[in-house]
Amino acid sequence: MRVLFPLLAALVAVATARDDLATASTTSTTKTRRTTKDTKRSLRRKAQDENNANRELFALDKKGFLSIPQDDPNPVGRARRLSYRAPFWEFTSYDSYNPELVNLTMAAPGGILGQAALGEQSATIAGQLDVSVATSLGVLVPPLQAACLTISETGECLEHLDSYLHLYSALAPEYQPAAFQFYDSDYAFARERITSSPAFITRVNRVGDIPFTQANVTGYNAITGGVPLADLVAQGRVFIVDFYPFYQDGVLEAAPHSVLEAPTAVFFLDGPPKKGSSIDNLSKFAATTRLMPLAIKYNVQHSYVVSPKDPHADWFLAKAVFNCLDSDVNSILHFALHSAIANVAIAAQKNLASEHPLFRPIELAAAENFGIIFAGLELLVSPGGSFDTDLSLSGSSVKNSLFPYFMQRFDWRVAANLSGDLAARGVTDIPGFLYRDDAAAIYNALYAYSEIYLAAFYKKPDSVMKDAELQGFLAALTNTSDSIAFLKGFPTTADVTNIKEVSALLTQILWVTGVKHHALNSYRSFNFDSVFPSHPRKILAPLPPRKGTLSDDEVQQDYISGAGFTAAEATSQDRYTPDLTTLEIANPLALFLSTQILAFVFYPLLQKPSRLTNIYLSDTEGLLMAVAAVALRQELRAISARIVKREAANIDSPRYLLLDPATLPLNLYV
Ligand SMILES: [Fe+2]
Repeated sequence: MRVLFPLLAALVAVATARDDLATASTTSTTKTRRTTKDTKRSLRRKAQDENNANRELFALDKKGFLSIPQDDPNPVGRARRLSYRAPFWEFTSYDSYNPELVNLTMAAPGGILGQAALGEQSATIAGQLDVSVATSLGVLVPPLQAACLTISETGECLEHLDSYLHLYSALAPEYQPAAFQFYDSDYAFARERITSSPAFITRVNRVGDIPFTQANVTGYNAITGGVPLADLVAQGRVFIVDFYPFYQDGVLEAAPHSVLEAPTAVFFLDGPPKKGSSIDNLSKFAATTRLMPLAIKYNVQHSYVVSPKDPHADWFLAKAVFNCLDSDVNSILHFALHSAIANVAIAAQKNLASEHPLFRPIELAAAENFGIIFAGLELLVSPGGSFDTDLSLSGSSVKNSLFPYFMQRFDWRVAANLSGDLAARGVTDIPGFLYRDDAAAIYNALYAYSEIYLAAFYKKPDSVMKDAELQGFLAALTNTSDSIAFLKGFPTTADVTNIKEVSALLTQILWVTGVKHHALNSYRSFNFDSVFPSHPRKILAPLPPRKGTLSDDEVQQDYISGAGFTAAEATSQDRYTPDLTTLEIANPLALFLSTQILAFVFYPLLQKPSRLTNIYLSDTEGLLMAVAAVALRQELRAISARIVKREAANIDSPRYLLLDPATLPLNLYV
């Protein structure tokens, strides 16, 4: 627009000159010349008036609609407008909406406007889910049902561990889950801990922290190359994902017709450090170093250890049992991101004027979040909801125990600080940690954008400190006396004092909603979490008391698909609540399809234009903001290209595209 004005002026000048020439060639009378001079004067005056008006307009546009409060040219109007909104939002408890939600410790939207927003968003989400379920049914059921009937006219198509290969292959390529061809791969199993399921892996610092000895691990020397377990630990090469503490804390309870186990999985870096390198820097391991599984220990039903060198059926079952719980626990961990961002959104509504540069980004990042939370509670954890029907943990236990557990332990410094989180778990340097790589690249791009965006407002050294709305926003979330509004670890007014710190805050919010949420949910569910037989959503039978008693088919039929049940057992299991009445074939397929539809609903939902690559938080602002947004888009596209190229070359494990910026929404949806 700065360029546009001189262009307009030049056009006016050219037009005027052309008028002059035309007039001179067609008239010779003085009167006419006088008239022409008057016309020229009039035109010049008009052009000058337009010029002045445009200058004022452009000056206003350059300044923009947004401002921090101390720089607002109309503070009275700003305060009045905020008074129409802020008093009508409240932090309220979840049980004010539903007494059954009494254990949830974060905030639901209260006040007249908070309630209205929840009602409006809930209706929107319900409508979107209806469409998405219908789409999912259309995409999945016909080809999977047809493939099943091709295998067996009576629908007995889930008898073997490789049965699902045929079913998934029947889907159109764009709908096939990333992990389905790697269901029996130990490398893929380990790699999930540094790609699609990265939240819990932690370095083991003391060999005594491993709940078994190397003598308990069948084929230990063959697996590790004979390096003693204590040496592996000392070299920083051993990692653990331990679900037993959740069980010990009493927050896990099996869903109907599912058997509960809370295993401990131990992994190690298979490959030597480079010659002469320090063992405390894992990045110095050879490029061929891979994270691989060492063993899985049961803790609830039994206490034996299963390794990759035990009979295939036992090892496959152990991995499936581990994955089954991993998926459910992660889904609830992810749900705590939704509830935390609800607090952030309420604080923004109560403290930030619409003109504040942080208000619009938060509003966009939290779009429809209240509706998502309540729809999730209704559909997933209510009696007979998806947890009871399709998943491994009971809806009541999730609602009363596990979700509150993650709320109580929520810490913004862990949830929103990638490097701090990874460092605390000692996993910063794991080779091939693609979640780390992709998430960090996008974080850096978002930070660069945030800093440019906010620099237009926080121009003076004391701008941040004097921003009363920002101070109020931070105080609302860090006041320990307001227990439901309080967000542990959220930056206080003492933590946010300059442009870098407020830029980091905005980056963290955008990163949690636009990146971390999708690392833990969304496309992950269908591509990894629900890929049978390696990721069953329920374990259907008690685990064997010892190893060596099962065949692969028994694992599949009795524990994973249910195809091994007799008709009487199947009826007594009563596990076919999913409304798939159009299916006329065996119930195990109905159970499988129900889990797939539950996972696939994300696909249609996520095809919305509010993408991270379309970020433009400042659409009321001027050229500099647009330049920053375009620069971010270009950087995100460059990151996307690198990820897509990397995964195109990946042929021995599921493609990890969950953090491809081209597919990431801007908000934590859904
Ligand atoms: Fe979500």
